[in-house]
Amino acid sequence: MVTGGCGFIGSNFIRYLIGNSDFSGRIINVDKLTYAGNPENLTDIARSFPGRYIFQKIDICDAVKLEKAFLEYDIDAVCHFAAESHVDRSIKDPGSFIQTNIVGTFNLLEIAKSRGDEFQLFHHVSTDEVYGSLGAEGLFREDTPYRPNSPYSASKAASDHLVRAYLQTFGMPATISNCSNNYGPYQFPEKLIPLVILNALEGKPIPVYGDGKNVRDWLYVEDHCRAIWTIMNNGNTGETYNVGGNAEIENIVIVQMICDILDEISPATSGKSRRELISFVKDRPGHDRRYAIDFTKLKSELNWSPQESFHSGLRKTINWYLKQKKWVENIKTGDYQAWMKEQYGS
Ligand code: NAD
Ligand code: TYD
Repeated sequence: MVTGGCGFIGSNFIRYLIGNSDFSGRIINVDKLTYAGNPENLTDIARSFPGRYIFQKIDICDAVKLEKAFLEYDIDAVCHFAAESHVDRSIKDPGSFIQTNIVGTFNLLEIAKSRGDEFQLFHHVSTDEVYGSLGAEGLFREDTPYRPNSPYSASKAASDHLVRAYLQTFGMPATISNCSNNYGPYQFPEKLIPLVILNALEGKPIPVYGDGKNVRDWLYVEDHCRAIWTIMNNGNTGETYNVGGNAEIENIVIVQMICDILDEISPATSGKSRRELISFVKDRPGHDRRYAIDFTKLKSELNWSPQESFHSGLRKTINWYLKQKKWVENIKTGDYQAWMKEQYGS
């Protein structure tokens, strides 16, 4: 079972698993289809692998339906992506983060536990944001204390703790990964990189929070999918693994890079540089200054390293959004407009 498989990373993971890996089993994708869940992300997979890919529209907070799916499909492993995932939304409306990220994870753990020995692995996909914010120096390690600062990261921290508790108390076979910021195809354009690409293409202001000097450690989504699959196959039960991209970059530098690449490959009809659209706006409350990951454990124990460089991954991503006109058009007809209006006023 993959939860949240119609979202950004979940859909990339299913695509990776069924298309590129040595996996020969069946995937049951359980997704509530919130604003962030888009079955269009997997239309081709559903068509090409009808017996091996099965979609079930289920809210992980609905324990009855969830248990029914576990029994019907004889679930022996879960890769758990389903979550409310956007920090700014967690500031405006934290309730759904508490429900999905904490209660939903609890439901999955309870049902997996009730399967007894038939259940083999619960892989919990989490974030580096649980560790809080770094100053100018240092890296997050697996033993860095948890200090979440947003309702999103606090709810993810709670879910990590629940997984740990089920492992320690009930012997749940579980692994956890805490990953840095992902980017790549199929990301909902509320997150920095796709939001900047779409605004730049439309000639709309590009909002940069605060002084633009906050740092994130960026990882191409396919590298994350490979890391998760590596951990699920070869990781030690009970262990946590940090996953990162070795690509610490200030937000403003990323925004400028996107503007310059678009000017080069898809110049504005006005002939103006996209950099003129950059607009510094009010900072996010509690905005974490810097994230950076030490992934030595994953590298030395499981031989994983990122393969995509940020420069090549960013170009690939921009090209993807330029080519996927239909996907972009469809995404704009949904919740996107309402969110852009509420958050940015346009
Ligand atoms: P996303 O918002 O793109 O997708 C989330 C998916 O979960 C959607 O398909 C949505 O419909 C589904 N979902 C939400 N609530 C649900 C519910 N109650 N029941 C069933 N399905 C539900 O998120 P993403 O960026 O793909 O992130 C996936 C996971 O990876 C999350 O757990 C997130 O915390 C974690 N993560 C994300 C990043 C990142 O940079 N995006 C980095 C590290 C970890
Ligand atoms: P985001 O993609 O929301 O990921 P996260 O908050 O989980 O790291 O944001 C990445 C960085 O970009 C973060 O420092 C906030 C900043 N940001 C902006 O400056 N402007 C924006 O419009 C958004 C969405 C984010």
